[in-house]
Amino acid sequence: MSLLFSPLSIRDTTIPNRLWVSPMCMYSAEDGVPGDWHHVHLAQFASGGAGLVMSEAAAVSPEGRISPRDAGIWNDAQRDAWAPVVRSIRARGAVAGIQLAHAGRKASTWWPFADASGSVPAPEGGWTTVAPSPVAYEGFAEPQELDADGIAQVVADFRAAARRAVDAGFEVLEVHAAHGYLLHQFLSPLSNLRDDAWGGSLENRARLVLDVVRAVRAEVGEAVPLFVRFSAVDSAPGGLEVDDVATVAGWAADAGADLFDVSASGLVAHQRIEVGPGYQVPYAERVRERTGALTAAVGIITNGRQAEEILAAGSADAVFAGREFLRDPHFALRAAGELGVEPERVWPPQYIRGYRAAAF
Ligand code: FNR
Repeated sequence: MSLLFSPLSIRDTTIPNRLWVSPMCMYSAEDGVPGDWHHVHLAQFASGGAGLVMSEAAAVSPEGRISPRDAGIWNDAQRDAWAPVVRSIRARGAVAGIQLAHAGRKASTWWPFADASGSVPAPEGGWTTVAPSPVAYEGFAEPQELDADGIAQVVADFRAAARRAVDAGFEVLEVHAAHGYLLHQFLSPLSNLRDDAWGGSLENRARLVLDVVRAVRAEVGEAVPLFVRFSAVDSAPGGLEVDDVATVAGWAADAGADLFDVSASGLVAHQRIEVGPGYQVPYAERVRERTGALTAAVGIITNGRQAEEILAAGSADAVFAGREFLRDPHFALRAAGELGVEPERVWPPQYIRGYRAAAF
């Protein structure tokens, strides 16, 4: 019996298996509205057997976009454009999730496949970014420090985005508090130099992400699974370490979060990371051990046996994969084959004749 292909129920949602599509920005939206690209891109992973398809970081406000081409969920037009994407994912038997995000000081940058890099100048569509402190990410424009009203607005934006996401049909929500974006900027002592209620102690630096979790939970009620993606470490001297983040995760669980999607780094350009297969798995394991909460592991997990071993070792309760799904959108069907899972359990009935190379 494969653990990877066993269902996971969280609150009122049952996710049919534990191999999930990690959120991946496509930088292909106009005015934050997802379009035809997103529709086919996301639904193909559901056809390919993923249990949960997590849509890319969707900005909770225009200034929260990483680039002018990011998808968003701050207005009704965006909500209405997400709805058919969600329906397509569900029609293929998967659960649709969405990551809610604010890029903070890493906003207003050129998308990765643009002809330029770094911050987008105002005449070319850029905007002034916001952050806990007026400290730039190396090479980017200096952000404006958020005041108390600005912080309250961020919380309200996450809350309104959560409402629209649920109204669009998403069954799982994920708060993006990783990769050096706004909530991570508040958490880390390297980017948060405040001396008020949102800076200094770990408790103060965690205030914003906990307020966001509480606000989202209050908005969507008790039925909806809520994930938080954390960077477990900053991979730089003086930055966050995994036990700091595990402590915050424990508080976030008390505030209403159900699962921690444990990634790493992204806060500073001078980070040092040793990358290899499953390199972030020990962080998920540590957070799971410290909090007793559900965790998901992510980072160079590229085959079924590797994913199964992560679950069997008790390091995580589910696995997210990003790039392997880009390389092979049917990665989950392939993984099921590697693990000897009965094709009838994971293949869409419409595809089952494709499983065996017999005469048809
Ligand atoms: C990403 N990643 C990412 N992470 C996130 O939390 N929100 C996002 O929107 C994105 N966007 C994104 C775009 C693209 C094209 C890639 C390749 C990656 C990170 C991603 O979710 C994942 O954590 C990493 O790619 C590591 O997992 P893999 O790719 O090794 O399985």
